[in-house]
Amino acid sequence: MNKKKTVLVAGGAGFIGTHTTVELVEAGYDVVIADNLSNSDRSGVEGVEKILGRKMAFEIVDCCNEKELEEKVFSKYEFDSVIHFAGFKAVGESVSEPLKYYSNNFMSLITIMGLMKKYNVQNLVFSSSATVYGQPDTLPATEATPRQKANSPYGYTKQVCEDMIEGMVAANPSMHAIALRYFNPIGAHPSALIGELPRGVPNNLVPFITQTAAGVRECLSVFGDDYDTPDGSALRDYIDIVDLARAHVAAVSRMVDGKNKESYEIFNVGTGKGVSVLELVHLFEEVNNLKLNYKIVGRRPGDVEKIWASTDLANAELGWKATRPLGETLKAAWAWEKHVRGIK
Ligand code: UFG
Repeated sequence: MNKKKTVLVAGGAGFIGTHTTVELVEAGYDVVIADNLSNSDRSGVEGVEKILGRKMAFEIVDCCNEKELEEKVFSKYEFDSVIHFAGFKAVGESVSEPLKYYSNNFMSLITIMGLMKKYNVQNLVFSSSATVYGQPDTLPATEATPRQKANSPYGYTKQVCEDMIEGMVAANPSMHAIALRYFNPIGAHPSALIGELPRGVPNNLVPFITQTAAGVRECLSVFGDDYDTPDGSALRDYIDIVDLARAHVAAVSRMVDGKNKESYEIFNVGTGKGVSVLELVHLFEEVNNLKLNYKIVGRRPGDVEKIWASTDLANAELGWKATRPLGETLKAAWAWEKHVRGIK
């Protein structure tokens, strides 16, 4: 990279945004963080600043508010690329409050793309999800695996946002976009200065595990042991958060360096391995040398039985590969929980 390129990280105070900001800055990019802190807090940005040893450009702004986003962000800085993380992500909540998900996840993307066009910002990386595949007929899921009807409003917003981006890029030849379909992001930065901060009772497995280990939750419920899998519990592809963050750096660099083959591309971001809930629980116990209180309960409605990624395309095209061993990731998740709870 010759001149330092500047990336707008929308939703940059959250779990994936903070880790991506660290990796971008370490790779030589300048970053501006925009976040309304609706599902994150300032401590995320402070953690980033501690890791990097510098102040970050940080604007508190709602990415659905065009006027505010223009005044505080697009008219004030010059960007080459935008990474858009500013969306809601709780599957269960989206079922009970669909309009909240439609209005936020659609409007933030529409607003961001409108301002990118107005200010001639060419490159967009979008947070998509493996949820777009539903339960695929064949595994691993490749980028060509057909998407299935979404089983939650959250999943539906990811599908529609992907299509909106495709349409926008087709209509604007100077625009390029990459959608990254994340599998299950887990873990925390090795410094334990940033990590996941779920509000209320966690829906996701790893925060529930770490909170149980910390004594905040009494007992982990393992949802189902009667799936058609080796130990009966469901299989997922757990991707380390730092590896995931680096995939964003690779995606931005691909477009900045003009290496993208199409103006709109999609890549899976996973490890390529399916791991069961019980395997993950037992590995967590082993690497952290503790016992977890857990019980087997019935299946969780809406869960798929098994899914993992084909990572061939991301490996070949982005030159990116997951590198962090799962045991290290689970140690980092526990170190972060201890940091949050003040446990020695
Ligand atoms: N699980 C438990 N107990 C818990 C929580 C989860 O047994 O307390 C199990 C689930 O049943 C599932 C696995 O752990 O088998 C992983 O569950 P998560 O909730 O952590 O993750 P999901 O695979 O359900 O969902 C994740 C993201 C979504 C995304 C989806 C894509 O949270 O945003 O992957 O497949 F859409």
